[in-house]
Amino acid sequence: MAFMVICLLAAGVLSACGTQSSSDGTITMRLAHNQSETHPVHKSLTEFARLTEEKTNGEVKIDLYPNGQLGAEREVIELTQTGAVDLSKVSASALESFSEVYSLFSLPYLFDGRDHYYKVMNSSTVNGIYESTEEIGFRGLTFYDGGSRNFYTKNKPIMHPDDLNGMKIRVQPSATAIRMIELMGGSPTPMSFGEVYTALQQGVIDGSENNETALTDNNHGEVAKEYSYSEHAMVPDILIMNQAKWDELNAEQKKAINEAARESSAFHKVVWEEAIEKSIKDAKEKGVTFSTPDKEPFQKAVRPLHKEFAEKESTAEYYKKIREAADKE
Ligand code: GCU
Repeated sequence: MAFMVICLLAAGVLSACGTQSSSDGTITMRLAHNQSETHPVHKSLTEFARLTEEKTNGEVKIDLYPNGQLGAEREVIELTQTGAVDLSKVSASALESFSEVYSLFSLPYLFDGRDHYYKVMNSSTVNGIYESTEEIGFRGLTFYDGGSRNFYTKNKPIMHPDDLNGMKIRVQPSATAIRMIELMGGSPTPMSFGEVYTALQQGVIDGSENNETALTDNNHGEVAKEYSYSEHAMVPDILIMNQAKWDELNAEQKKAINEAARESSAFHKVVWEEAIEKSIKDAKEKGVTFSTPDKEPFQKAVRPLHKEFAEKESTAEYYKKIREAADKE
């Protein structure tokens, strides 16, 4: 019943539910995401589609639906779950309400830096996390670097958690992100990404937190002029796929898609670095000021969350593995 409702809801955009299989056996799959065509993630997903087609000798084709045209992240996860779309790229934070283990990625200061992050994300540790949603209808295929998340506000740098006092800060719809802002002393306002620009403009929120591309590709830098490198989180983007669709593929097709996914992540690492450099330059030209606060007071504020994650059944094992990887640096 739920599946039918979602199919009907999506009918305005999608001609039919699920994959299109043509008479020559070609499979065409739909991939949804919420970034624009200029965003590095779109470029890397385009590369994923190209590699998939190449590696399956044209048997599997992937059509991209960018700009959140099929819905905000929560909606596209649900569509991927039912198979109304085959694949989607969403933030790990948005997956937290589907599988609790994903909450780990919203834990502030989980990673010590980019090296630690890549070491973990490219290791087999994440496979268990990707497979944790098989029973609810989808699986993770790979990750794309989402950079570090930092605070940006309309007119005040955030140099210390005290600066967040009385400020309404947009967070992703994630219980962990909400707790983070509370512990730092601000007022968390969860909302989907597509609503942030207007909310900033209309003063519904005083600031938000994200990587630098939000300032440029999503134009938030037109309204928010202060960007502060608290580097409180490194939340990866995750490529997910409908589980039933995955099960229908033959072994060679699965192998090809896995390889395409991994190679597109490596491609993204390079594209991402270039995009961040460009975003910083463009944002500065638009009058955004960048500041670098001391991270220690922010880290101290969220320490209770680390204790919770180290003890909670759903995250304890992965928390330990991820932190151990940092200590072995
Ligand atoms: C990042 C991420 C998006 C997400 C957004 C957000 O930009 O790539 O997938 O929607 O953060 O803050 O919601």
